Amino acid sequence: MDIDSIGIVGAGTMGSGIAQACAVKGLPVVMVDINQQAIDRGLAAIGASLERLIKKQTLSGAEKSAALARITTGIELSALAGAPLVIEAATENEALKIGILKQLDALLPGAAIIATNTSSISITRLAAATRRPDRVIGVHFFNPVPMMALVELIRGLVTSDATHETAKAFTERLGKTPITVKNAPGFVVNRILVPMINEAFYVLAEGVASPADIDAGMKLGCNHPIGPLALGDMIGLDVCLAVLEVYYAEFEDSKYRACPLLKEMVAAGWLGRKTGRGVYSYQAGPALAP
Ligand SMILES: NC(=O)c1ccc[n+]([C@@H]2O[C@H](COP(=O)([O-])OP(=O)(O)OC[C@H]3O[C@@H](n4cnc5c(N)ncnc54)[C@H](O)[C@@H]3O)[C@@H](O)[C@H]2O)c1
Repeated sequence: MDIDSIGIVGAGTMGSGIAQACAVKGLPVVMVDINQQAIDRGLAAIGASLERLIKKQTLSGAEKSAALARITTGIELSALAGAPLVIEAATENEALKIGILKQLDALLPGAAIIATNTSSISITRLAAATRRPDRVIGVHFFNPVPMMALVELIRGLVTSDATHETAKAFTERLGKTPITVKNAPGFVVNRILVPMINEAFYVLAEGVASPADIDAGMKLGCNHPIGPLALGDMIGLDVCLAVLEVYYAEFEDSKYRACPLLKEMVAAGWLGRKTGRGVYSYQAGPALAP
């Protein structure tokens, strides 16, 4: 099936980023959310992001206008009828996503592909909620979508080769680099990344080194652009803990047990940048490190 337009469910951080990436590459997009305020926030984020690209001189004013003109919106899933590929990027909640996928399944042409941007929910389970599990695939973009090159393509047990090939060609058309992953908790990147952050917390809790030295060690010794503790603060320590708890439960392996210090900090409400304090302080007040 020729992918000549894209439907997107969710106009939040990821949905709006995916809409922008598609529109800039010339693909017409229909972006749906639950109400007009959410749509307006998404469109404002896209406008601001395109404006930053103009300032960086990687986009012209005419290209910005053309990209925005390719994005239409709606507050009903029925606005997506006829789309050959719909990417679900709604809130990370399994029951919610299953409800959306069932509605899309009933609405879309038989040959259409349903992709989901979920970070943690089983693609095989989501696909099984539809009558087209062979045409369901995980297409996991990274944040911020317009800047990040990687897309993980997650094949559920039943995802067909044709669906995988179509999704691969689509992400390449966006200028992204796809990697192919079997359905497994955390896929590839987060499976490796989040336990590394957890290990940094153990190193910190044991007093092996200071936060600044742990982060400097990984930046200078491994060429990482950011240290694991600063990255944890950026992702949100509650998100890191929740992901570890999923791995611990799903793999039934103690190597994924969350560091008690990480749990303590989440219990205290020190969630990282979003609360102003985590391992580091982003405002006046206590934190583990200045
Ligand atoms: N934020 C990230 O860094 C990141 C990275 C990769 C993947 N993801 C995944 O992408 C998905 C979206 O995450 P986000 O960060 O954009 O969340 P977000 O909270 O910014 O946006 C979610 C949007 O979905 C909308 N929504 C909820 N129910 C809906 C429905 N029934 N129909 C239409 N829209 C609905 C909400 O109104 C909201 O605007 C999640 O599955 C998340 O796990 C997030």
